[in-house]
Order: sequence, then C-alpha cells, then structure tokens
Amino acid sequence: MSIEITVEHTKNKKEKPSSMDGVVFGTQFTDHMFILDYDAGQGWHDARIVPYQPIMMDPAAKVFHYGQTIFEGLKAYATEDGRVLMFRPTKNIERLNISNERMSIPEVDPELALEALRQLILTDREWIPEGEGNSLYVRPFVIATEPTLGVSPSRQYKFMIILSPVGAYYAEGINPVKIFVESKYVRAVPGGVGMAKTAGNYAAGLKAQEGATELGYSQVLWLDGVHRKYIEEVGSMNVFFKINGIVVTPALNGSILSGITRDSIIQLLKHWDIPVEERILSIDELEEAHKEGKLEEAFGTGTAAVISPMGELNWQGEKMIINEGKTGELSAKLYETLTGIQKGVAADPFGWTI
Ligand code: COI
Repeated sequence: MSIEITVEHTKNKKEKPSSMDGVVFGTQFTDHMFILDYDAGQGWHDARIVPYQPIMMDPAAKVFHYGQTIFEGLKAYATEDGRVLMFRPTKNIERLNISNERMSIPEVDPELALEALRQLILTDREWIPEGEGNSLYVRPFVIATEPTLGVSPSRQYKFMIILSPVGAYYAEGINPVKIFVESKYVRAVPGGVGMAKTAGNYAAGLKAQEGATELGYSQVLWLDGVHRKYIEEVGSMNVFFKINGIVVTPALNGSILSGITRDSIIQLLKHWDIPVEERILSIDELEEAHKEGKLEEAFGTGTAAVISPMGELNWQGEKMIINEGKTGELSAKLYETLTGIQKGVAADPFGWTI
C-alpha cells in the first residue's frame, strides 16, 4: 500500500530551548504536527504534516462532552553517531488500536501510523535534544470531533501527533519517591477502561494525586476497585516489587494498562535469569514482606520517567521504608540498561529500537 503524507513546512521556525535544564516536562513543542481526518463513509484521509498550530473545533465536538479520546506516549532519541531512534513504536501503535477498539474509535492503519511517526520526527529532528537523559517525547492521540450531543460513537475524528523535547525526568538521576497507598478512590474496575490509554483514567486520578501531594507524597499506589486490596498501578505508571529475590508485578487483569516499559522490564529480567512473576499481589502480602525484611525494592515504570524507585509506602498511617529510602541496585541497573538501549549506547539484543 502506498502511503502519502503531504508536508507543509513552517515559515516561522520557533526558538528551541538552548538546554533542557529546568525545562518542565511537556511544556515545549516542535515546529510541526501530524493530522489525519476521519469521516464515516470516507474512512481515514488527508494525512498531512503541517506547522504546529491551534486547531479549530466546534464546541459541540463529542470529545469535550463524552471524552471519546485516546492517547499514546513514546520517545525518540538522537544517538551520538547521528542516528534517530524510536523505542518500540510498533508496540505503541498496537496499544493505540487496542485503546481505539475499547473506546469505539475506528482503527488507524498501523503502517500509516508508523510512517507518520517516522516522517514527523525526521521533519523536526533538529528538535531532538542531545545529551544524557534527553529525548523527544512523542504524543499521538485521537479525538472525536463530530459536533453533536447524542451519546453515540462519533462519526468524525482527528488522529494527531505532537512532539515535545524533554529532559531526564530526574535531573540528578533516579531518586526514590514517597508513595501514599490510596484507600478512598480507585483508578479503574474490571470491565471498565483501565486497560485503555484514555483521558478519563487520568482525570479520575487527579483527586487522589492532589490529596497525596497535600500530605507530602509524590504519588498514590492504586488498589483494585472491587476488593480494595490488590495492587494495580502507581500514579500513571506500572509497578514492580522485589520480594525475597523475586520480582513481582501485578498481572494484566483488564483494569491495568499494558505498559511498554513494563513489558521491556519483564523481558530484560528474564534475559538476565532474574525470577519475575506477573500475578495478583495484595497490600497485605506487601506489608507482611516488609515486616519480615523481604521487601527489597519497589519501583514504578513508564515512558516518561522510565524507572521511578519508591523509598516509602504509607499504608493507613504505617510507613514502610524500602531499602533505607535509597535507590536499589536492580532499579539502577534496569534504568541504566533500558536508557542505554534507547539511546543506542547499549547492546539491543531484542531489536527494540527502530
Ligand atoms: C508515562 O509515560 O509514564 C505516562 O503514562 C505518563 C504520561 C501520562 C505523562
């Protein structure tokens, strides 16, 4: 199939940040963006790269009222020898269509999506910041644009991609954060949309996040919505625990997002012959392991931060300090290896970079 993407170059190039130091995540955007339209009857059409600009939308567009929308997040890197690498983009495209399916949004052709990523990133390649920990954060998303208020799947959509140069999530390297175990609010329930990367999941998490911040915690640990006892995610990341030498992460159960960093970590651990289990894990088991001195490390995983170690868990007032509040050896090794593969400086035995 031939994929035609028209390109309109900007006449007004923006100033790029001279350094990524102090640049807050997701605040800078490049010169161009990608747009693809959908109309019922016509399908997806008019693939184009255009100057980055605001879009005109009818106030009745369904996305504003019923939240029919999905997004993705991945990163592109500039290597020391002048190449541009994307990390596992086909996994993001696969998940984009899983989210689309759940939200009654028509499938986007995976080949077209990959070509759009490739062409947009190369159009703005001079925006990819060089240097340790820096990358181009890539945000594909789909919004329902039909201007009607009936509660039904939209008959019009836009698939767009925007790019944002970002620095290392943690300027000083990875530092453990304090986590509040949430017992009032839940993020998702089985049969809901927890496995889709859709806006509502993130909006629903804000209230708990605000509460945790007020108490001096960085994020919340989400428990399941039915029993309120099984661990699901941490903030907007997947979560791992090293218990007595075994790495445990909650099994994908329909309400947990299938993270691409999560999958990469599992594959790396298996490659290193470190035991890893995807299974149900209760907060009681974690508390018990901590009491017995067997809770060795805990970390969140996601595209934005890659690895985020946890130094403290507050569960109903009881503070569980993990690894004396310091970054564990395994967390550090996983971070180094994964970012090394992403940057093209470490061997990539899995063929993850394109
Ligand atoms: C991630 O990349 O970890 C996320 O999902 C966070 C993103 C929503 C900024």
